[in-house]
Amino acid sequence: MTKSQQLFERRRKAVANGVGVFNTATVREAYGATIIDEDGRELIDFAGGIGVVNAGHCPPEVVAAVREQAGKYLHTSFNVVTYEPYVALCEQLAEILPHGESSKAMLVSTGAEAVENAIKIARQATKRQAVLCYTGAYHGRTMMAMTLTSKVGYKLHCGPFAPEVYRLPFPNYYRYGGGRSYAEYVEFELKRLRESAYNVVDPDSLAAIILEPVQGEGGFYPVPPEYLEGLRRFCDEHGIILIMDEVQSGFGRTGQWAAWQNYGVTPDISTYAKSLGSGLPIAAVVGRAEVMDAAAPGTIGGTYIGSPLCCAAALATIDLIKKHDLNARANRIGEQITRRLKSMQANYPAIGDVRGLGAMIGFELVRDGDPRRADAELCAKIIRGCAERGLILLSAGTFKNVIRILTPLVISDELLTRGLDIIEEELAKAL
Ligand SMILES: Cc1ncc(COP(=O)(O)O)c(C=O)c1O
Repeated sequence: MTKSQQLFERRRKAVANGVGVFNTATVREAYGATIIDEDGRELIDFAGGIGVVNAGHCPPEVVAAVREQAGKYLHTSFNVVTYEPYVALCEQLAEILPHGESSKAMLVSTGAEAVENAIKIARQATKRQAVLCYTGAYHGRTMMAMTLTSKVGYKLHCGPFAPEVYRLPFPNYYRYGGGRSYAEYVEFELKRLRESAYNVVDPDSLAAIILEPVQGEGGFYPVPPEYLEGLRRFCDEHGIILIMDEVQSGFGRTGQWAAWQNYGVTPDISTYAKSLGSGLPIAAVVGRAEVMDAAAPGTIGGTYIGSPLCCAAALATIDLIKKHDLNARANRIGEQITRRLKSMQANYPAIGDVRGLGAMIGFELVRDGDPRRADAELCAKIIRGCAERGLILLSAGTFKNVIRILTPLVISDELLTRGLDIIEEELAKAL
């Protein structure tokens, strides 16, 4: 038995079954876009710990910042004893993610917590309760976040769910366009949004509408720009807080600090986690200062809100993204990946769609070229084949038929090409 197999055997006996296994890789050490497994095998990482290591595995600057902070103090709780790295990080976030004239931030540990707090802030700011979300959405696994999450398989027997949550179809042109032109379809969905005022929920009772500008777990669907503009107008007309969840799409992935910056549509509140901390658990809620300040003292927070170690990691990560201009690098990587996947699509009709924003690129596998006939089996086969060849890949999508690429943005062109070669070879083999 290999060391990796032995570790999995121990895992099977000791770890609860509900903790999913997306891939059977193990790790002994990691750097850049490379993972060395327990048996010393070099793996190419196209998953990035589910979009967490945009700045690479163990960037030396981040590791040094964490080490330095660890030598000073590990924890005081920001509520009890104020520390500078927390304040510095909120200052940085307000600067790179301006929500109007004046922005403020608060820190927590995970994406789901950021979402929970964003909803609490929106409710306090509006004194309203209802929240509107979308099909295909993923917002996390805590109770409100899970309620907002769409995929039934993530929530089976976990209810009762939070009340006052309503849902609209996400404008997914590829799957639901049904022969209409893109413009016709977007207008249809905008009309549906406006009609929701009559057949879904009174907009004047809505505290917030939450959406991912590029759906992550849902299958890497960027929202159509015209829809986002219409949604912004709808929120303004009715005094609704627009929350954009950037937990997966943020911090370099789409070629900007946040995907919304590609659209030129500014949310009232936005949420971040994952690649903000290069692997240390930190998340942020950023928003217009007057909205953020509407939350009364004591109603948001927790013991570990923005641990000093995690703030140090986040500050070093932001420096690194700036220093190496990883946002620009994301666009270059994205172009390279898209070009290669499109040329694969020309040869393999099983690839129904190639799409994304910046380096947040995915491809959808379907049967007979039909967008409604998801090929989850082919998707699983390719991922398994790639795993055997040392390429770590993740699927996405409500119907498990999308392969998403979340490789660290520091990946070399050579390693990226090698990974894409493996995908093409495994696709050919699987077919
Ligand atoms: C868009 C989005 N929101 C929220 C979350 C939840 O983040 P976490 O797993 O850190 O709680 C995720 C995680 O994948 C996500 O992709």
